[in-house]
Amino acid sequence: MSRAHWSGRLAFVLAAAGSAIGLGNIWKFPYITGVNGGGAFVLIYLACIFAVGLPIFLAELYVGQVSQKDVVSSFEKLHKDKTLWRLPGWLGLTSAILILSFYSVVGGWVFDFEYRSLIGEFSTPNEAFIKGRLGELFASPLRQLLWHSIFILLTIGIVLGGVKNGLERWSKILMPLLLVLLTILLVKVFSLSGFQKALSFLFSPDTSKLTVDGLLEAIGHSFFTLSLGMGAILTYGSYLSQKESLWKTAITVAFLDTLIALVAGIVIFSIVFTYNLEPGAGPGLIFSTLPVLFSKMTGGFLFSTAFFLLVSFAALTSAVSILEVVVAYCEEKRGLPRKKSTLISGALIYLLGLLTVFSTNIMSEVKILGMTFFDLFDKLTSSYFLPLGGLFISLFVGWIIGPQAVTRMLGTSYSSPAISQKLEGLLLWSLRLFAPAAVIAILLQKIL
Ligand code: TRP
Repeated sequence: MSRAHWSGRLAFVLAAAGSAIGLGNIWKFPYITGVNGGGAFVLIYLACIFAVGLPIFLAELYVGQVSQKDVVSSFEKLHKDKTLWRLPGWLGLTSAILILSFYSVVGGWVFDFEYRSLIGEFSTPNEAFIKGRLGELFASPLRQLLWHSIFILLTIGIVLGGVKNGLERWSKILMPLLLVLLTILLVKVFSLSGFQKALSFLFSPDTSKLTVDGLLEAIGHSFFTLSLGMGAILTYGSYLSQKESLWKTAITVAFLDTLIALVAGIVIFSIVFTYNLEPGAGPGLIFSTLPVLFSKMTGGFLFSTAFFLLVSFAALTSAVSILEVVVAYCEEKRGLPRKKSTLISGALIYLLGLLTVFSTNIMSEVKILGMTFFDLFDKLTSSYFLPLGGLFISLFVGWIIGPQAVTRMLGTSYSSPAISQKLEGLLLWSLRLFAPAAVIAILLQKIL
């Protein structure tokens, strides 16, 4: 059976960016930055993107491109010891299922806010009413269930369309539009009184505010936001033909992803500091801040409707890349037809998502290790599974494949062989030593 491929480089870059840019940038980054006190957290996060995320992004692309296989079969194909190297594959599958189960519920919250925007709920000057919308949504299992169902169905629908028709088509138009809209919002908040304060909150590091948990969250989020550590980028890389260059894609995606997160952060915290909202509000942060701005803006109705629509699409293109990991596995490793694979894994994830739906209402008192299911799934995957998955991939490519992998990642078209040799060495040792050491050091700090 011949394998599906992207139609070209641009299509692939956009799809990878579509995977990376999502709720992680617009919902999660601002809220965890707020909870962790701002500047110092942002600094660590940026360092992790650059020093740990980028090399691992390349490593995942490489494993996918060379093996042309799903997350479990790829490691098996590249190494004789099938038992040990089955581990990262299985870990990746587990992460994918857990992450999509809550990602879909949060995506549903965005749908709900799109609907509220459309019926004019954010067009009233009544601030208390607007701030109360999120609480109302959280309290209603049925309402969340409805949107969670729609979100999963759409994700399944796009994945069923296959690589070319499903994944590519959406990313091409909608990702650039999101960037445009965020830029307009950035210009809008520039004139707010809280703008300066937002900048200093985000960019002047105060290390006394950084805790071990914050450190773990920063490195974990650098994985989450780049879609790393569970084989999503690996699976997308496996649809790439053998000749494509990898490093340009990695740098472009990391740059765009970081840009969008930072702009979203500036917009949100400008609103927080202008209207005296709570920076550490948690997972509801964007939902309690943005509508307040929209309700006071001229053309607010249009902006909020366009904004929640584009965030919905960003969330969908990311969700699709998560489901694709599980589907590719069922198809290739288990030999199921694509349709059946998609429906079965979608249904399983949907059911698991119920635990997140109930975490803000009827099961809010059910705690495991002091956390609701929603918090547990999020923490477990972002802070532990993804960094561990990244650790495996990094060691695998650095030590088992070795120099030939970095030569392939960086390509051979350098004007100066000296520079190319230096870069290759740097990348190789990032994978062998630096990235794994960073992950291990942070995990150990937490455990000890
Ligand atoms: N990166 C996406 C976001 O920022 C979410 C995502 C997609 C993801 N695929 C992933 C996270 C794989 C972890 C692993 O919203």
